[in-house]
Amino acid sequence: MASKLQLPRSFIAIVVLATVIHPCTSVEFHRKLASWSNAGATWYGAANGAGSDGGACGYKGAVDQPPFSSMIAAGGPSLYASGLGCGSCYQVKCTGNAACSSSPVTVVITDQCPGGPCLEEPHFDLSGTAFGAMAKPGQADQLRAAGVLQIQFTRVQCNWDGVKLTFVVDAGSNPNYLAVLVQYQNGDGNLSGVELMQSGAAAAWTPMQHSWGAVWKLDAGSALQAPLSLRLTSSSGKKLVASNVIPLGWKAGSAYQSAVNY
Ligand SMILES: *[C@@H]1O[C@H](CO)[C@@H](O)[C@H](O)[C@H]1NC(C)=O
Repeated sequence: MASKLQLPRSFIAIVVLATVIHPCTSVEFHRKLASWSNAGATWYGAANGAGSDGGACGYKGAVDQPPFSSMIAAGGPSLYASGLGCGSCYQVKCTGNAACSSSPVTVVITDQCPGGPCLEEPHFDLSGTAFGAMAKPGQADQLRAAGVLQIQFTRVQCNWDGVKLTFVVDAGSNPNYLAVLVQYQNGDGNLSGVELMQSGAAAAWTPMQHSWGAVWKLDAGSALQAPLSLRLTSSSGKKLVASNVIPLGWKAGSAYQSAVNY
């Protein structure tokens, strides 16, 4: 019996080794990245609304307006990621209800869903608009009546055509302290870091801290010398410099658009 097992074992070892070193392995890896995963989905807010009409990421009224256009989701803990998931784009679709179209629609994380069904990970608490958008034409109300669904999702690159990467200076900012909300970032959508560079003698890249939602902050301890440049690092590590995007004479509460985007 033992000798019968010897040959298959070494054969298996060769097959395993061949799989590891074979160039097709990387093709398989890419295929896996684009595959669909299961998640739970619920919806919140008005049937044709944008969820909370604001949300924990801090985008405020922008959630109702193009390009977000109410196609938003509050992410459970793994999707919201303490705010670092803000701005990430996903395709979602459903097949398990007679009203499901099975066609994917794109949503962006703009809010946090901290409890209840959202703790059964992963979970999307979609706006009524986004939940209904997974339905066959004319059956959005029927689908929303289901309340909770099993869906499929996949991370996608964000592509906010027709809007510029925007930096909204938080209302609590002052000459020594800058907090800035980053929105409409193409590509990865979410960030792993933001750095700031002042003008003049103090010019050097200084890391900002993640504050909350999509907001990053820097307590400089002395008056910041504008114009200010911001360098973003996306979640996959790609860097982008928005030179002098916060102008001389910047004001708390104002939005500044960048000429560049991912
Ligand atoms: C967003 O980016 C961060 C890096 O800051 C990463 O750790 C996190 O998992 C990302 N969130 C999602 C939902 O992909």
